[in-house]
Amino acid sequence: MVETAMHDDHEKVVTITDPESGLRAVIAIHSTALGPALGGIRCWTYPDMSAATHDAMRLAQGMTYKNALAGLPLGGGKSVILGGSTAKTPSALHAFASAIERLNGQYIGAEDVGTTVADIDFMRDVTGHVAGTSWGAAASGDPSPHTAEGVFVGMQAALEAVYGSDSMEDCRIGILGLGNVGWKLAEKLSRAGAALLVADLDSARVAAAEAEFGAQAFAPHALPYAPMDVFAPCALGGALTTDFAEGASAGIICGAANNQLAEPSVDAVLWDAGKLYAPDYLVNAGGVMNVAAEALGEYDAYRVATQVRGIRETARDCFIQAKRTDTPTGAIADALALDRIKATSAAA
Ligand code: NAI
Repeated sequence: MVETAMHDDHEKVVTITDPESGLRAVIAIHSTALGPALGGIRCWTYPDMSAATHDAMRLAQGMTYKNALAGLPLGGGKSVILGGSTAKTPSALHAFASAIERLNGQYIGAEDVGTTVADIDFMRDVTGHVAGTSWGAAASGDPSPHTAEGVFVGMQAALEAVYGSDSMEDCRIGILGLGNVGWKLAEKLSRAGAALLVADLDSARVAAAEAEFGAQAFAPHALPYAPMDVFAPCALGGALTTDFAEGASAGIICGAANNQLAEPSVDAVLWDAGKLYAPDYLVNAGGVMNVAAEALGEYDAYRVATQVRGIRETARDCFIQAKRTDTPTGAIADALALDRIKATSAAA
């Protein structure tokens, strides 16, 4: 295990190579100013260790902002296991859990793209510094229904801000990525009367959405530019480009994917183009709220549900401030998160 302290504004970046199990992984801790760094364990294919490290660091920083804005007493971290699902052998997962354990609680891992509740359960045999497990007094289980709920209420706030009503009846909503969160969001939106446009790399998921929701299918590259009212990126990051901001029809962007802005500058381009962007880490915090309740050892389903529904209020405040000050929504969310980190650090 190689540890690099103070890596480009991050408190700690640890790279792990375990020849015995074949594990190659990175744990990035961006900030522990508010508490232990909580963030998901992503299992994905990367061209090399440097690309994986870059991704882990970018995502860890996002978790610092997300946890702060969600009002959680937790810092931000993220980890990645290189190699996709075939890399998740039992011995590799245990080697990775040992690396988490060696950090003595500075980092708490949970589900993310490519990892499941079963993986987290399996790692808990080695370390207690994981959350999102399926059994035990504080178990919080699958975070994705809570993430979908947060995105749904965030979308209601966005519709209200733009149209003066949160009705989704006959609203055309495009969902890019029908995975754990995207599918559950599709269920909610369909029940609320929306007309769905969908895309996924997995054609079976798309076919299921056509059958289940009467959704209209698109190729992933075409969906963002299809005529729609709301675009919900629910696959991986980077869906919001300058081309999208200037050329797409959607007036609202509200989805679950982390790091949706391809470049930070797209925040301002979206705002100038008159599109309301619901900051990704603001509206997708439902899952981390659920996981955090377990990590903090005090799981209460009712309290988590109330907290997740509170995302609507936080989104509404962000949109109001953005309009009042003519400032892009992403910049407003960043400022709110930083204020909370500074206030807590000053009080400590
Ligand atoms: P998932 O892995 O279950 O689903 C992702 C889906 O996107 C898959 O169906 C995949 O085939 C599809 N996909 C991947 N690349 C694509 C592309 N280029 N075009 C079209 N489809 C593509 O992941 P999950 O859990 O649903 O998460 C979705 C996003 O939300 C991720 O960015 C994740 O980081 C973020 N997120 C998830 C949370 C959770 O509770 N699961 C919490 C907060 C954020």
